[in-house]
Parts: sequence; C-alpha cells; structure tokens
Amino acid sequence: MELLHTRADLARLASLRSGGRLVLVPTMGALHAGHLSLVERAAARGPVVVSIFVNPTQFAPGEDFARYPRDLERDLELLRPLGPAAVFAPQVSEMYPGPDGTAVEPGPRAAVLCGARRPGHFRGVATVVVKLLNLVGPAVAVFGRKDAQQCLVLDEVVRDLALPVRLVDAPTLREPDGLAMSSRNRYLEGDDRRRAACLSRALQAARRELEAGERAVAALEDLLALHLADADVVEYAEVRRVPDLDRPERAEGRLLLAIAARVGPARLIDNLVLEVGPREVRAAALLEGGQP
Ligand code: PAJ
Repeated sequence: MELLHTRADLARLASLRSGGRLVLVPTMGALHAGHLSLVERAAARGPVVVSIFVNPTQFAPGEDFARYPRDLERDLELLRPLGPAAVFAPQVSEMYPGPDGTAVEPGPRAAVLCGARRPGHFRGVATVVVKLLNLVGPAVAVFGRKDAQQCLVLDEVVRDLALPVRLVDAPTLREPDGLAMSSRNRYLEGDDRRRAACLSRALQAARRELEAGERAVAALEDLLALHLADADVVEYAEVRRVPDLDRPERAEGRLLLAIAARVGPARLIDNLVLEVGPREVRAAALLEGGQP
C-alpha cells in the first residue's frame, strides 16, 4: 500500500492508471466499517486508491471542520488488510494551490434537501471530487448511498462535464439498532446515541406503509415526522424522485426517502432508496452501476 501526499507522488500510479481499471474511493478519513465496505466493493473491480482529505470548502463557517476527527495512522491500519494499491492523503495546499477561485457549480439536484440547508456544501463537494478524479484518473469511483444526494449531484456533474469515469453507489452499513454508520456518530453519547436510531426507524415505518399500499406523499412525510419525535430538530423528512430529486405527485417509481435531523450535538442524515411498483416495493440503487 503506497502512501501518497503530493500531486508529484501520484505519478507513481501511472502504470495502474494506464491499465484502465483503477477504482477511487474518496473519503474524509475517520474511517468506519461503512467506508471499509466501499473499499471492499471497489477491490472487486480493480486496483483501489482511497483518498483521505477533510475538504474545507464543503464545510460552512460554524460547521464542524475544525473538530472533524482526523487520525491518519488509525485509518492506514484499518485499510492495510484490505490491500488497496494506494492511499492519497494530501494537505489542503496540495488540493487548493491558489486563492479560492475556480470551482465547480453543481446543477439543480444540489439546490434541495441538504443543498438548501448547507449553502455551498455541494459546490465544495463537487469541486474537490472533480480535482480528485483528475488527479487520480480512475475508471470507476465508488460512493456510499448513505449520502444519496451527494451521489446524484456528482453523477450529474460527471455527465454534464463529460468526465471519463463511471460512478457506482454502494449500500449503507448500519449499527445493530439501525443507525447508519457515520464519522459523526462519535459526537453521540448516552441518550443522544439511543435517540439517533429514530431516523432509521422512521424510514422503515414509511417503507412498511408503502408496502401496505400507501402512495400519498403527504401521508408518508407525516409518518416520517411522527417517528422523528425523538430528534431535537428535524431539518427535513421528504419523499423525492430519483434521479432528479423533484417532488413526486404520488409515491411511485424510484424514490428517495430522505431525512436530516439534529440529535444532541450531531447533524445526522439517513435515507432509503426504493423502487415502488403497483404491488411491490423493493430496495434499489441510485445510479446505473450501483447494487441495491
Ligand atoms: P465521508 O463522509 O468520509 O464519506 C466517504 C464515503 O463513504 C462517501 O461515499 C459516503 O457516502 C460513504 N459512507 C459514509 N457512511 C457510510 C455507511 N454507513 N455505509 C456505506 N458508505 C458510507 O462523503 C464524503 O466523505 C465527502 O463528501 C467526499 C465525497 C470524500 C468529498 O470530500
């Protein structure tokens, strides 16, 4: 496993890149089993590069950039057994060599849900991911469905900018009580940790209601809100259409059930992607190459 820090170091990937099978897994570190599952899925497709970079431009002032957990040694220990070809862990100056100027402005999928509550967030994500794709040059990049809107925004960026890469989404790994794994879960202690499971419980309740035949969007959103009584603040609990994230007239076709809520000191997000047919409701992927 090569440890690369600079743009110049990336030249060491040249022979792997020319093989045309390189797979990138972008992360901000503080790795957990969810991240590791992406690396395992990536490894089934070709040699893997994991990037570890806490990207300042996707955090708004007042968000947790300064206290975001950073532990490169531990991350490397967790990755080593999975055998990635390389880890790319650049400094901020390596990724942002000039004054904050050129950026990637994502399209309409970035305007709703988290995009409406975290101004500039997806601009920061799109900008850093395009840089990582250009620097590493993978054929495929793997993203977690946990950040569903991020997957759909980046897929639109790749399509619109004609980037030569295929994006794949992978399922969300969860704790035994259903809480989606996240680097931010370490902000949760005691009762906050217990209450945090209400997001996934709300999503499962909505799924059961769909399975029972409910197709009214407002009824499903009311049900989500009802199950979120344990959260301190519900930022949104919505039903959206995949892939454009518009509001559907009825809960039919490929849908995203998406929640963002504050529990104690943590802002948590979770979602469920479902294909809702006339008689059947099943788990689905967001992107063409994804596995449900
Ligand atoms: P980060 O939050 O570190 O997540 C890195 C990748 O791991 C993302 O694709 C995310 O969706 C995925 N992931 C997170 N929790 C997961 C879980 N419980 N199960 C499966 N996958 C999970 O997302 C980012 O970093 C950044 O925005 C980034 C794309 C790296 C750009 O800076």
